[in-house]
Amino acid sequence: MGIYLLAVASFAGLVMALAVMLMVAERYLVNYGVCKLDINAGKRPLELEGGQTLLSSLYANDIFIPSACGGKGSCGHCKIVVDSGGGPLLPTETPYLDRKEIRGNVRLACQVKIREDIYVRIPEELLDVRMFDATVESSIVLTHDIKEIRMRLNDPAEISQRPGQYVQIQAPSPDGDVFRAYSISSASFEDNVVELNVRIVPGGIGSTYLHNLKEGDSVIFTGPYGEFVLNEDPDVEIICVGGGCGMAPMKNIIYTLYDRWPDRSCWLFFGCRTTKDVFYLKRFQELAKKHPNFHVVYALSDELGSDEKWDGETGFIHLGCDKLLEAGVARQAFLCGPPLMIDAVTRVLEEKGIAEKDIFYDKF
Ligand SMILES: Cc1cc2nc3c(=O)[nH]c(=O)nc-3n(C[C@H](O)[C@H](O)[C@H](O)COP(=O)(O)OP(=O)(O)OC[C@H]3O[C@@H](n4cnc5c(N)ncnc54)[C@H](O)[C@@H]3O)c2cc1C
Ligand code: FES
Repeated sequence: MGIYLLAVASFAGLVMALAVMLMVAERYLVNYGVCKLDINAGKRPLELEGGQTLLSSLYANDIFIPSACGGKGSCGHCKIVVDSGGGPLLPTETPYLDRKEIRGNVRLACQVKIREDIYVRIPEELLDVRMFDATVESSIVLTHDIKEIRMRLNDPAEISQRPGQYVQIQAPSPDGDVFRAYSISSASFEDNVVELNVRIVPGGIGSTYLHNLKEGDSVIFTGPYGEFVLNEDPDVEIICVGGGCGMAPMKNIIYTLYDRWPDRSCWLFFGCRTTKDVFYLKRFQELAKKHPNFHVVYALSDELGSDEKWDGETGFIHLGCDKLLEAGVARQAFLCGPPLMIDAVTRVLEEKGIAEKDIFYDKF
């Protein structure tokens, strides 16, 4: 038994040592020379040194692909079509790709290395993503764990964003800069500002960096990213449901919506555990006075403490949706919050007759 274990351990050690040697050799000894990177059939032809990942090569040429995990292969956001030159599909990619995507040559840009001429297709919208340099205008405590951070844009000085989109903030870390995704909470007509609602994650690189920012500090981010498109038909009712920092995209949707369609019907359902998690309630109540078709519902899921006062809804937020929404109305829904909340709300909304294609969500 002892000899057997020793043999297995030696073999595993040998395999690991070989793998490390291969990685080092590839990094320092293998020279792939200059490779062609062809984007959208000749629209943006590039020439670059091989050996880097597709994601970092694109980044070095100011083409910013969504990469919420910063290229670690753990978010699945960096999907692009690689028509040829990407090498075989890797086991690190398959968990994030369905059969249709695999058949359509979709790859994770952070996993594909450039070793030969490569031909890729990138949605035009992503080619418009920019890197912004901004200055913190204000940092406001909203709750015990959420801050509102408002940044004025310097260069470029304006952003064209749709509600539901997000930016990727560059945050310093001991191993180099990392990028983290944050939804834009400012309305899309505020084109010289990007505002965020950031929840602190204990020990988290991006959220700690953002929470420590002070007025006047510089911030770098790329964006905007995200495919959500608000239904343009004013007769379609908009339903926003979320909790915590999931407020950010919903605030953008609501203010953008009422700037454009003052009479449009919209519901905001916001789930909190206790009164300590409640924020923006008064400002939404003020907005509802100006726009009578705007309905604001905040619900507390925990028992009220002896020192807490509350005259809103109680219980989980999906129960509020179930109680207050009539069935059979033409609607589009945007959900943003923890996965369990989103799953429960989705079931309720489908029971109310909203088609799956009209329910959009961001789980975080
Ligand atoms: C499209 C999109 C939009 C987003 N919008 C927002 C937003 O508007 N506001 C916002 O605050 N966040 C948002 N997030 C989440 C955000 O991108 C970060 O993941 C989050 O701030 C944690 O990053 P960090 O660098 O602080 O933590 P990391 O350094 O990445 O992680 C530190 C530790 O915390 C754990 N961890 C990571 N995330 C969480 C979490 N959410 N809860 C508990 N533990 C965690 C990790 O596993 C790790 O152990 C969004 C994410 C996506 C994908
Ligand atoms: S950047 Fe996250 S999987 Fe590629």
